[in-house]
Amino acid sequence: MTVQKPEAGRAVSATTSPVARLGEALKVEARFWRGVLYDAWRFRRHAWLHRARSGENRDARMLADAHFLEYGMALREARTGFGFARATRLARDLRDAGHVSDAGAVGDSTLRVWAAFNAGEVPEEVARYLADRAAPGASEAAGVSHLDRAGIAKATDFDYLAFAGSRHSVRRFGPDPVPEDKIRRAARAAQHAPSSCNRQTCHLRVWTERDLIDRVRVHQAGNRTFGDELGGIAVITSDLRHWEHPGERYQAWIDGGLFAMSFVHALHAEGLGTCMLNWSVDVGTDKGLRATLGLDDAQSVIVLVGFGTLPDDLTVCASPRLPVETVLSMNPPLT
Ligand SMILES: Cc1cc2nc3c(=O)[nH]c(=O)nc-3n(C[C@H](O)[C@H](O)[C@H](O)COP(=O)(O)O)c2cc1C
Repeated sequence: MTVQKPEAGRAVSATTSPVARLGEALKVEARFWRGVLYDAWRFRRHAWLHRARSGENRDARMLADAHFLEYGMALREARTGFGFARATRLARDLRDAGHVSDAGAVGDSTLRVWAAFNAGEVPEEVARYLADRAAPGASEAAGVSHLDRAGIAKATDFDYLAFAGSRHSVRRFGPDPVPEDKIRRAARAAQHAPSSCNRQTCHLRVWTERDLIDRVRVHQAGNRTFGDELGGIAVITSDLRHWEHPGERYQAWIDGGLFAMSFVHALHAEGLGTCMLNWSVDVGTDKGLRATLGLDDAQSVIVLVGFGTLPDDLTVCASPRLPVETVLSMNPPLT
């Protein structure tokens, strides 16, 4: 019988007796189903499958409704007279205390642009809301933005392929502290990641103090060999209260992954080294991290990111990529 020690939390292989193998298989099944039920139940508890019950449900709904209105106005064939039901619900949510939140500010300004687009021909509830509430002062651009190709070409006048290729997972770091403004800029860049109906469900919790980094990273197996060199660690979460219908049950991981990659590329652009740290964990480990962080039950942990300043010279894994044909099929035949 050969039992191998787990490396980075994973056993590579184990040759054991058939009975022991069966026992192991049952344990893995139990861990799997426990994880599935844990995820499903938390989604069920917090998403607004039937009705919005919390301020966070309402915030997400206002952002989604505002997105519906801006979407219609940005169409090539944009026509007045669409979105009455969404606009009415948005006005109702805004009136129902929603206007005080950041999401409400987006909802309010989008609703005003939409009402102007419709030349005031709007449902009564919308008209009443707009009449009762004075427009707030200057706000972020809302509704639609007009761009031109030259402006986009100017903003993208660099070799993105070279930029993407220059990022590597870094597992050795310099001793200098990470300047906070670099983290803030990276967070702002991560906010530009696309999100489902612009609901922006993700959040970054970042620690840069040694003892705090250590208390967070101890829950994650994949940083054990280098985590003591990290200048910062981020935990990326998605708020399950922002999800609406059963089809969105995995959306937290999708939006969270996009957000995480944007954050990592942004830190790279700031000259910092990064390493994604997986959160492929069992229920017990997830609960352990949540307890240390004091995370409320609605926050789903998506992934962690370790980062730090770069030393002058470093060695990284080459991690060769497969030929592009392995990820790209151009015009594959359809059945
Ligand atoms: C979601 C995710 C989780 C990861 N977790 C870890 C980890 O826990 N520890 C680690 O050293 N690397 C981790 N990695 C880094 C991968 O090993 C690495 O991205 C891959 O080998 C490709 O190399 P590159 O990032 O240098 O291009 C993770 C990557 C991803 C995308």
